[in-house]
Amino acid sequence: MAQSDPTRMRCELASVPKRGYMDVVVSGKGGVGKTNLALNLGIQLARRGLAVILVDADLGLANADILLNLAPLADLSDLLDETRVVEQLLVSGPAGLRVLCGVTGATHPGGADIRDHRRCAAALARLRPLCDVIIVDCAAGVTPAVSSFALAADRLLLTTTPEPTALADVYATLKVLFNQGFTGEVGAVVNMVSTRGEASAAIRRLQRVAAQFLGLTVLDFGYVPRDRHVLAAVRARVPVVVSFPRCSASACIEKVSRHLLPARPQGVRPNGLWARVANLFL
Ligand SMILES: Nc1ncnc2c1ncn2[C@@H]1O[C@H](COP(=O)(O)OP(=O)(O)O)[C@@H](O)[C@H]1O
Ligand SMILES: [Mg+2]
Repeated sequence: MAQSDPTRMRCELASVPKRGYMDVVVSGKGGVGKTNLALNLGIQLARRGLAVILVDADLGLANADILLNLAPLADLSDLLDETRVVEQLLVSGPAGLRVLCGVTGATHPGGADIRDHRRCAAALARLRPLCDVIIVDCAAGVTPAVSSFALAADRLLLTTTPEPTALADVYATLKVLFNQGFTGEVGAVVNMVSTRGEASAAIRRLQRVAAQFLGLTVLDFGYVPRDRHVLAAVRARVPVVVSFPRCSASACIEKVSRHLLPARPQGVRPNGLWARVANLFL
């Protein structure tokens, strides 16, 4: 069928001006699955023919390169150096996903000071013309760096587990970012759930509190079950959607990735070319 012809998809996508719609992945607590979600979602979107750049912005505790088994050529701090060619800072991962690796340690020897996170967040604009989607993986909670990256986002991807503490913390994070002036779209993913009902209850609670106290709509972007294949993938340093594409976590990550479509360029009408391209994937 013509609609599923990948060559046609790629042709159509090539004709859409790129502006790197920026999704920033945040959480309240650490260890809720942000990095795994960010990189596996990136791979799923890349598999659909989108040009995707994953940015590891967990300053000091960067680990996307480890999970992808990549040798970084450069890192986020190099983006501040206007003399560097951006393409040369990126390493290639599965399915053509490109990765701007993170910085481990506060400063980069011989390079710019990564603590200048506001400049770093602004420098992410250099990636926009190169891709359809930028996925930024942040540290847990709301550090000044997380705020800088989140406020530059088109959309926040809240990541939480169903535990009340994780939910309370992700709400607190959202509240701070909202009070700091975030005005983009907000979606949430509930990770490591035992049942679908547990995911629905968690998302409903988050939606209700955000609506009541912030007047904000939190979109339901789905859930990912607790699945031992994720841990096996981490150990093997091969992302779960690559190593176990048919496990339940991978199937759910694929569903979540559909919520990140269409990555609609601003100024393109929803019923315009981009929407038609996006429909090819649905
Ligand atoms: N859906 C899942 N099922 C089982 N284990 C998971 C799942 N998601 C994440 N994990 C486990 O949680 C650990 C932390 O995940 P990570 O993505 O590094 O979290 P964060 O970036 O939020 O700190 C992973 O190493 C993995 O072992
Ligand atoms: Mg992480």
